[in-house]
Amino acid sequence: MLDIKVTKTTAPKAKPEGKLGFGKIFTDHMFIMNYTEGQGWHDPRIVPYGNLSLSPASMVFHYGQEIFEGLKAYRGADGRPRLFRPDMNAKRTNSSNKRLVIPELPEDDFVQAVSELVKVDSDWIPTEEGTSLYIRPFIIATDDFLGVAPSKTYLFIIILSPSGAYYESGLEPVGIWIEDDYVRAVRGGMGFTKTGGNYAASLIAQVKAHDDGYSQVLWLDGVERKYIEEVGAMNIFFKIDGVVVTPMLNGSILPGITRNSVIEICKDWGLPVEERKVSVDELIEAQKTGKLEECWGTGTAAVISPVGKLRYKDDVMIINGGGIGELSQKLYDTVTGIQLGKLEDKFGWVKVLD
Ligand code: PLP
Ligand code: COI
Repeated sequence: MLDIKVTKTTAPKAKPEGKLGFGKIFTDHMFIMNYTEGQGWHDPRIVPYGNLSLSPASMVFHYGQEIFEGLKAYRGADGRPRLFRPDMNAKRTNSSNKRLVIPELPEDDFVQAVSELVKVDSDWIPTEEGTSLYIRPFIIATDDFLGVAPSKTYLFIIILSPSGAYYESGLEPVGIWIEDDYVRAVRGGMGFTKTGGNYAASLIAQVKAHDDGYSQVLWLDGVERKYIEEVGAMNIFFKIDGVVVTPMLNGSILPGITRNSVIEICKDWGLPVEERKVSVDELIEAQKTGKLEECWGTGTAAVISPVGKLRYKDDVMIINGGGIGELSQKLYDTVTGIQLGKLEDKFGWVKVLD
């Protein structure tokens, strides 16, 4: 158990009014904890939200030794705040930490820190349909040193942001650009981690896709550029001839928590689910023969995001007439229903904060 020292702000900010975008507004407090070699993680504290003071030589600025997470707090139907599978974010934090040679964080401490901070700022959890309090934990390397080596000091920080839909279109189907030139990650690299470098690598293709009117990029494997991997901030699913298909975890894609939840829910419904390699050629063929019934992305920020259009080179595939598929809608209703406490939590995924 962490002994978290809480210092409340004396100048609380006004709560946002009107339509919330994603990740632009921050709450009154943040969590900070230091790591020092030889001492371990120490000085857990909740303090007023504010700027950090760091040396320009801090290693994170130069070599990108950092990891982050993303989860959400919801105001339940009973008025109580709740988290969705925070233990999974704690586990993924340590999986990312290991790859980036960052010291591991006890899972219980991660969940406790998130829970305590959300409780302090619980009146910031928005309640309108489709909104939530987005939680962004992250760890940065803070040694003042320009040599390339793992840092000996770190900061673990959590900030909170009341947010609405990730895409401006809300649950409306998005258009996705299958990138055939740039790649995001390769096996043996960092693709399975949540680290800033993966997102930096993605920007160039995202700009290209946006310029062409598409919301996000769908990455292909980094070796053959043939197999579907994942979208910029989501995992991807297809319904092909009645079967739910998603790329298997291969080390270069993020093991999404929403992905895992959707697989569990579909299996519980008795739907056939396949985690396997999916080639872009298979998709084009399925679309031509009318077997590509639905496509959707899954992610914390995006929840379930129906995909109405997929572009690959000169092929533009319109899926389900560009509308929201029946299964995508049912999954959205089920996942958000569990998160908000409107549906029974038969999998034990929700942590209610008292
Ligand atoms: N893939 C990438 C690259 C992501 O950034 C995210 C978002 O976190 C996901 C997939 C979905 O993961 P999760 O469902 O855990 O949010
Ligand atoms: C998520 O938490 O769903 C994300 O991937 C966030 C995204 C903005 C990078």
